Amino acid sequence: MAPRNRGAPRWLCSAPMPTALTIVTGASRGLGLALAEQLLARGDRVLAISRQAPALCHERLSVWHADLAEPAAAARQLGAWLQAVGVDGAASVTLINNAGVITPPAPLAQTAAADLARAVRVGLEAPLLLSAAFLKATAGWTRPRRLLMISSGLGRRAMASAAAYCAVKAGLDHLARALALEQALEPNGARVVSIAPGVVDTDMQLQLRSADGAAFPDRANFVGLQAKGLLSSPAAAAASLLARLERADFGSQAIADVRDD
Ligand SMILES: NC(=O)c1ccc[n+]([C@@H]2O[C@H](COP(=O)([O-])OP(=O)(O)OC[C@H]3O[C@@H](n4cnc5c(N)ncnc54)[C@H](OP(=O)(O)O)[C@@H]3O)[C@@H](O)[C@H]2O)c1
Repeated sequence: MAPRNRGAPRWLCSAPMPTALTIVTGASRGLGLALAEQLLARGDRVLAISRQAPALCHERLSVWHADLAEPAAAARQLGAWLQAVGVDGAASVTLINNAGVITPPAPLAQTAAADLARAVRVGLEAPLLLSAAFLKATAGWTRPRRLLMISSGLGRRAMASAAAYCAVKAGLDHLARALALEQALEPNGARVVSIAPGVVDTDMQLQLRSADGAAFPDRANFVGLQAKGLLSSPAAAAASLLARLERADFGSQAIADVRDD
């Protein structure tokens, strides 16, 4: 008897395909907001963490209000949340440690202790604790895991009147190097990169241009960069970062700069 032509296979029921999950700190404005917008546009589920909410509304966007100068609670919450999402809840999982602050540019001894402490907590302690919670909660996940630190050229090239910021970004780079070594020993280790995003037209650049020139010898350089049209838009910088994240060799080098693309 001739075999019956059954036609194309039919799926009687199918589970929804899990989407990529990306956590972005500092997504309320600047580079982080552009990253969140583009991640949502490409279909990711996004968890945005900052003090203010991003001016975005989307069914795949979750927003947490958190002051990352006190990061322990946010890190605990992130770990619990990822465990609830579970290994099958996402096609890939990525943490982008983007939030950062620069102190008012001035020599270290003329900078308020509270400003110095906040810059280090938001820029380095928070990425450290959030990364630890992320890596622990997703340790058994079989899908791709990625960790992206938003660093700065100033983590690699020192500048006067920005000592705390330079130290934070150098620390973030070295955190990425050490984590990349640790994760390379794991069965599905996270791929870890600390990347400098270039000079981006955000509030942070405005803060540098508006600084007191007497306390900040490099102020004119930042004014000149803007005058010559050399700042990238947050959207362009975010697109470069997300393209980098999708590259097959993402994580092969722990330290990167979008200007090398
Ligand atoms: N712009 C540049 O040229 C440039 C160059 C190199 C590197 N970067 C790096 O790129 C990243 C983004 O910078 P940006 O230029 O987009 O800066 P931005 O416009 O000043 O935005 C900073 C973001 O960090 C968040 N943030 C600040 N303090 C926070 C806190 N205590 N708790 C939680 N979130 C906090 C802010 O959210 P809330 O205020 O709502 O909390 C905001 O979303 C930073 O890591 C920065 O160092 C920027």
